Amino acid sequence: MPSTVILGTGSYAPERVLTNDDLARTVETSDEWIRTRTGIRERRIAGPGENTSDMAVQAAQRALADAGLTPADIDLLVVATITPDLPMPACACLVQAKLGVPTAAACFDLNAACSGFVFALDTVCAMLASGRYKKALVIGVEKLSAVIDWQDRTTCVLFGDGAGAVVVGVSPEEGRGFIGSRLGTMGESADLLCIPRGGSAAPSTAESIAARDHCIRMKGKEVFKLAVRGMDDAARDILEQHRVRPDQIALVIPHQANLRIIEAIAAYLELPMDRFFVNVDRYGNTSAASIPLALDEARKSGRIKPGDLTLLVAFGAGLTYGSALVRW
Ligand code: UT7
Repeated sequence: MPSTVILGTGSYAPERVLTNDDLARTVETSDEWIRTRTGIRERRIAGPGENTSDMAVQAAQRALADAGLTPADIDLLVVATITPDLPMPACACLVQAKLGVPTAAACFDLNAACSGFVFALDTVCAMLASGRYKKALVIGVEKLSAVIDWQDRTTCVLFGDGAGAVVVGVSPEEGRGFIGSRLGTMGESADLLCIPRGGSAAPSTAESIAARDHCIRMKGKEVFKLAVRGMDDAARDILEQHRVRPDQIALVIPHQANLRIIEAIAAYLELPMDRFFVNVDRYGNTSAASIPLALDEARKSGRIKPGDLTLLVAFGAGLTYGSALVRW
């Protein structure tokens, strides 16, 4: 099997910053509660008319520039998102047109919520390894501000908007790049984190919109416990599968939902927190964008060196979870 390697990374966060104090002016909450329960200090919110596809294009352009490639080089484009511009067509088609990716490219969306980037990376690496594609763009992007119930303090303080992208290609060098993944799903718990209305089973009505049932609903405590279990299992399984000890991981890039979840996983893996990249304080939970945004910041800030082994680990609605090992 040829190696699949990450050739470039890029990310984008909208300009507007929404602080905890800003939120405390509209719902009954406080900076202190949000910081101590989640680690979040602020999040970014897309500007008027700024769509998911626009943020995806910004991150993709930066990843392509980092890889020294152009949109013309791409023959596979996967957008991981739960907030596409439209229910149909796929956000990837809009991104293709805005970016100028050739017509011969396969472009599609993938919905695995906050685990979406890890699922998409795994999918793309398998497709590249088949030899039928040469260069891929994997984008994780969300405009969660569009599906947040801004009156629900139990969710509105948690999420934010943003995008991250990677360019993936094939390399003859062995032992580098994408080493493997472990993906999993707990569909029986799907109702713990969902958008209850607006799909084909329950189209939106005037009443459901008034009740804001087209927005994210979450049973936070239950999801918290399963998130720790799912991410710990995903991390442990992949390390065992590839005979890697936790202390051989130079940096873990975890899904950024809650600092307490990251701390719990660090404790289970018996790794110090400085082996974990954390930016949840500045962006909140950006779902599918969270890992690629963190990965790009980690790389650009010099936290990942050639030869380093990194572990990506995610958990999200579905419920889905997944991990991936990448050697740089
Ligand atoms: O990305 C997908 C995965 N998502 C996650 O992993 C999120 C997982 N869940 C969590 O991160 C946490 O469960 C939350 C941050 C959502 C909540 O933290 P918690 O420590 O589990 O708090 P809680 O839900 O048990 O709420 C404790 C109290 C409640 O009041 P009572 O019932 O004790 O009187 C809540 O009503 O805090 C109250 N509360 C708030 N208070 C101030 C809930 N939200 C807020 C708020 N500000 N924003």
